[in-house]
Amino acid sequence: MQIVILKDSASVAEYGANIFIKQLKKKADSVLGLATGSTPVSLYQSLIAANKAKQISFKAVTTFNLDEYLGLEGTHPQSYRYFMNEQLFEHIDIDKSKTFVPPGDAANPLEACQAYEEKIKSAGGIDIQLLGIGRNGHIGFNEPSSGLMSRTRVKTLTKATIEDNARFFKEDEYQPHLSITMGIGTILDAKKVVLLATGENKADAILATVEGALTAACPASALQLHQDAVLVIDEAAASKLS
Ligand code: F6R
Repeated sequence: MQIVILKDSASVAEYGANIFIKQLKKKADSVLGLATGSTPVSLYQSLIAANKAKQISFKAVTTFNLDEYLGLEGTHPQSYRYFMNEQLFEHIDIDKSKTFVPPGDAANPLEACQAYEEKIKSAGGIDIQLLGIGRNGHIGFNEPSSGLMSRTRVKTLTKATIEDNARFFKEDEYQPHLSITMGIGTILDAKKVVLLATGENKADAILATVEGALTAACPASALQLHQDAVLVIDEAAASKLS
């Protein structure tokens, strides 16, 4: 695992974006694994700027998002599909039919999980997977105790994650407690993994990921097994590392 510690969140976003820009320059038809949440937003802004400046193109790119709330349609403002459209896809030259997010409105979620795995496989696998990390060490919606070999499946969210994500929902709005998420095994299959973390509230999770035991109690510790995983973190997130 490679650890890159940078001064602040802006430097983390810029460093992370450059990894993706380099990848797209090397392989125009890259398969990208993408994440939602607050952390990747600035990275996406940098990618949008690079696309507008004609430095990179997304025309041949395929994307797979990590996760989606089960029970929300893609048109719901809190769905991750909606987030991706707003934060990235609407602003770049990507073919939207090649952007995949697990279907939160699937009639048969179990079949949809299997189909998602198949789709990743038939696209040739993920070249680079972008990750954030939960305060409890989750990656995607793989909460603590998730199997380290797990594949795309339905997962119940922990109380901690529901509370952390409540900030995105209005007080009286329905907040799902279930998700469809790529498994830890699915994530580990990506050729390269880039995890971004910023802020002091991620310091415990980063400590457990980097210096802790390989354990399902901290799903991100599974990245210790990956041949090409890079953690790009700011000084605050790194503050508990020895
Ligand atoms: C999002 C995802 C989550 C987030 C994590 C951190 O698709 O899979 O694992 O990356 O919850 O979220 P933020 O970046 O909002 O702190």
